[in-house]
Amino acid sequence: MAVLADHRALDSAIDATDGPFEALDPRERGLARAILGISLRRRGQIEDALGRFLDKALPRKSGPLPAILHVAAAQILFMDVPDHAAVSIAVDTAEADRDARHFKGLVNAVLRRLTEQRDAILAAQDEVRLNTPDWLYERWVMDYGAATTAAIAAAHLLEPSLDLSVKSDPAGWAEKLGGIVLPTGSVRLIAHGPIDALPGFGEGEWWVQDAAAALPAKLLGKVDGLDVADLCAAPGGKTAQLAVAGARVTAVDVNEARLLRVRENLGRLGLEAETVAADVASWQPDRLFDAILLDAPCSATGTIRRHPDVAVLKRPSDIDTLAALQASLLARAAAMLKPGGTLVYCTCSLERAEGEDQVAQALASLPLVLEPVRPEEVGGVDAICRDGFLRTLPSDLPHAEPRLSGLDGFFAVRFRRL
Ligand SMILES: C[S@@+](CC[C@H](N)C(=O)[O-])C[C@H]1O[C@@H](n2cnc3c(N)ncnc32)[C@H](O)[C@@H]1O
Repeated sequence: MAVLADHRALDSAIDATDGPFEALDPRERGLARAILGISLRRRGQIEDALGRFLDKALPRKSGPLPAILHVAAAQILFMDVPDHAAVSIAVDTAEADRDARHFKGLVNAVLRRLTEQRDAILAAQDEVRLNTPDWLYERWVMDYGAATTAAIAAAHLLEPSLDLSVKSDPAGWAEKLGGIVLPTGSVRLIAHGPIDALPGFGEGEWWVQDAAAALPAKLLGKVDGLDVADLCAAPGGKTAQLAVAGARVTAVDVNEARLLRVRENLGRLGLEAETVAADVASWQPDRLFDAILLDAPCSATGTIRRHPDVAVLKRPSDIDTLAALQASLLARAAAMLKPGGTLVYCTCSLERAEGEDQVAQALASLPLVLEPVRPEEVGGVDAICRDGFLRTLPSDLPHAEPRLSGLDGFFAVRFRRL
């Protein structure tokens, strides 16, 4: 699997124009995405289950054998695919590969035993623990305690809802789309089918944005008529929020291709912003800004519900590297701000090193003071407003319908420049 072998993000592997998924029609590609999504979301359980039938490690020269077994096991254990179909596709796929062909018999035997023992295996597994890498689980226990960590890991097992930010009339759009309005103002639905086929997409009435991701821009308060920099802006969810709120927005991102998506998204929404392709670390704007939003690059461990590949791809060393980068971008952002101006720093990470720990360092070294976040600014949801910061967790906003529960894990803090 490209994600595991090449350390490639799931979405980019599936959408790549040079990859094996290119030839599939949209329905088949959707199915492939679902199978690979489950394969990653439930990776620990799948490996544990397969390990029960494999006495030793698979031989190195077995081609795609591990991936064939893993993907078939995902279907047998967690998907509504007939067992015989999952087994025979796996055997045929092995047969078609020069190296895996020699293990056809093993594929058949292991998967058949898995179909027979599925219920007993699933009943014996600790799904919450098995599907989270040890290093992440241990970090979260230190930062959030055992009970909250278990709730976070349990939330990662659910398919997330589709959250939309609407230009106006959330209640009207929730009704038209069959969704609900969250206390924070986002519209939430259980997604079926392609997003661009939903009412209001073509008319540019809303854009897709996790409800937690929609909160940091709100912390800038009234931005009507202000000169606002949106740093690290692509694909532009927060740029759109600021533009709808009446700000003159300058959206900066280092990645030209992603910046193109900002322009496309703004075009569909009928919104305007200046876009600048630049590295925030070295960008020299010709003026100071009234307000700045810095959505810094991060480990994205708050988005594991939506991107289960993050749990597989990230390493502890990534957090240290990113924390150093975030501190330097925060210092640059502070230097671009007018005295008295507001700066919101945020990341979609659950790691304190990329959130809370950045604050003490910034207050000690930069001309900034803290402007605590109040619950009423984020829909009155006390739980997501912790110690004057915004801290959302995947286990927040529970709902009786599990598929309408949860939030991405975000951190945001607001500063004022002295
Ligand atoms: C978390 S995403 C931003 C999401 C975006 N703010 C939104 O709400 O849609 C981080 C972005 O930072 C950009 N980025 C990373 N390092 C950067 C840098 N040094 N300067 C500018 N942009 C950077 C990446 O290209 C990526 O688009």
